[in-house]
Amino acid sequence: MTQKQLTELLSTMTIEEKAAQLTQLTPASLGAGCVTPLTGPDCGLRMPPELCGAAGSVLNCSGAREATALQKAHLEKDPHHIPLLFMADIVHGFRTVFPIPLAMGCSFSPAAAEEACRIAAEESAASGVHVTFSPMADLVRDPRWGRVMEAYGEDPLLNSRMCTASVKGYQGEGFKDPRSVVSCVKHFAAYGAPEGGREYNTVDLSEGVLRETYLPAYRASLAAGAGMVMTSFNTVDRVPASASRLLLQRILREEWGFTGPVISDYNAVGELVSHGVAADGGQAAAQALSAGVDVEMMSLHYVNSLRQALAEGAVTEQSLDEAVLRVLTLKNELGLFEAPFRGADPEAETRCHLSPAHRQAARRIAGQSIVLLKNEHVLPLDAGGRKIGLTGPFAASRQVLGGWSAGNTEGVSLYEGLCGRFSEGSLHPESCGELVPLQEGGGDIPPLPAGFAARFSDCDVVIAAVGEHQSDTGEGASKAFLRLSPRQELLLQELAAAGKKVVAVIFSGRPLELAPVLPSCSALVQAWFPGTEAGNALADILSGDVNPSARLSMSFPYTVGQIPVYYNHFRTGRPEMPENAGTRYVSRYLDCPAEPLFCFGFGLSYSEFVYSGLRLLRDGSGLSAAVTVANLSAAEGTETVQLYIGDVTASAVRPVKELKDFRRVRLAAGESQTVIFRLTREMLSFYREGGFGFEAGRFTVMIGRNAQDTLSETIFIDEALIGKEQP
Ligand code: BGC
Repeated sequence: MTQKQLTELLSTMTIEEKAAQLTQLTPASLGAGCVTPLTGPDCGLRMPPELCGAAGSVLNCSGAREATALQKAHLEKDPHHIPLLFMADIVHGFRTVFPIPLAMGCSFSPAAAEEACRIAAEESAASGVHVTFSPMADLVRDPRWGRVMEAYGEDPLLNSRMCTASVKGYQGEGFKDPRSVVSCVKHFAAYGAPEGGREYNTVDLSEGVLRETYLPAYRASLAAGAGMVMTSFNTVDRVPASASRLLLQRILREEWGFTGPVISDYNAVGELVSHGVAADGGQAAAQALSAGVDVEMMSLHYVNSLRQALAEGAVTEQSLDEAVLRVLTLKNELGLFEAPFRGADPEAETRCHLSPAHRQAARRIAGQSIVLLKNEHVLPLDAGGRKIGLTGPFAASRQVLGGWSAGNTEGVSLYEGLCGRFSEGSLHPESCGELVPLQEGGGDIPPLPAGFAARFSDCDVVIAAVGEHQSDTGEGASKAFLRLSPRQELLLQELAAAGKKVVAVIFSGRPLELAPVLPSCSALVQAWFPGTEAGNALADILSGDVNPSARLSMSFPYTVGQIPVYYNHFRTGRPEMPENAGTRYVSRYLDCPAEPLFCFGFGLSYSEFVYSGLRLLRDGSGLSAAVTVANLSAAEGTETVQLYIGDVTASAVRPVKELKDFRRVRLAAGESQTVIFRLTREMLSFYREGGFGFEAGRFTVMIGRNAQDTLSETIFIDEALIGKEQP
């Protein structure tokens, strides 16, 4: 359709039809029968029967046959024959499930994120999905919050690069390509900073932190072409995001020039009443629409009250029409008016869902996301010797996909993966019972039978697969305690006390507090939730077929009392330094280090990498930093070389350091390479009132293997050295 035809169509719609076009419900709420469980509070919603045929979009319905049947029935009912838009949470894969996003962040590989999202797009588009609610660009610093699993971690640059790659992967060749899906970036904005890590709690940030730290990944997603934006549940500067003109008008539309539709999160329009900024649903609808929420998800305030709000002048017809036009335009860009069933195709589903090529990619990418945190010469495992023990609640569990797995339930268990790599006879599995989720009133495994560790008398090494239940991660899964459950800690301690070399494999959706079990473990492998190919990918790592290359996307605290603990914190007036160590009036804890147990960017390899010769290079076109990285071991491996910069003196307090670039470098045994990073003006700029800008002065350039272990050089940089603004 042409834009003129869309405008003509709009002019034939009644106010109620326009409001319905701006409403998103599940098939059940549309009266169409639903197979997918609701994700938030089930509001018992029902579209008024006379408007069922006028609804604009559907939440979480997938399957080529279901989607096609629903679209067909809808088109017969809708007097204007406007096709439905199908949106769903395709978060880390569809039928083929990839590692949770926090783990994907650890790959430091935008290419891997793009590939995973491309596959997810192909699989879900074949099942009739048009828009995915992904990526979640919310930056996270608090592992108590359950949704850290859905984020790419604590760093703005890594987050932005991974989000950019995800959008590219989902959207592929463009909206018209029936094998792509539109990316709806969420949750705008700053949902990842709830106070105390408690779900749906207040967010309160300074403008500088909001703009420098929390906003860049949403902006990067939009710059990559993301077609939609979802608002967040939280407040920003005391205004709920779904009523925030600052976020939705000034920043999103005026500063960033976004023209696509904005959707509320689940019932977030209705929640303006619980927030206490609207007295009733009518006020909530007027506030949300006027602020810039085009589509209302899972509440019916637009449908129920926009006519009256217009009559009272609480909203303008222009904002209503603009919102509807944005939705119609997206449908048109997807080609739905001509091809309402788009990519939905049962044959394509059979062909591509869980295809061998997709599973292979899932295994490879999971291998790039598993982080080796400790290794006292026990890994890779030697299959030639005595038996390898295997226990822990995740040893044989197939519940290894992580939340938001698009209705899938099972992946390859660790035991199945190990059996594919080592002969069954070389393994000695012993069950210790199941981990019952906290969500179900549990939280632990059953008591260990007396003398449990003695059952492994034929083993020197025991793999203990422990962690948190996947239902205790994700939305509505905040935790105040982050230790492994008491009986899991005991399991590790008893195995160590029995003289076993314990290889702990941790399944979790967040950084857990691992300090209490560290002394009991000879090796520690952070598996996260690796997805469909979990067991195979872990067997690759444990056997040494794959050399670990992942680096932490989020700091691991010593203890909950340190949280938030993240590497790019601001400088303080009284930093703890070697000169004042142990004295009273410095910024420190008496009972715990100030630094995390494992810092951002940390991760071991079976290779040994050595950094040397950091140097700053000036040439005609600007400034670069170079370092030499050598692989001194006999194992080929991949190192993630990380560039950090600290602004020594500026007109506002700056973080001690910030990641500015990184590169994965593959090095053969004995090989060394020089890695060169170009330093740009953008890397040295920060937010002051009125925008981002550069201030001449001294900067410390750091390159290294993680946020704590770097080589550094300090240099004065002025306009002449760094060059003018790049266009
Ligand atoms: C979540 C969103 C999700 C939506 C739809 C909400 O509860 O916060 O992330 O996209 O449900 O399922």
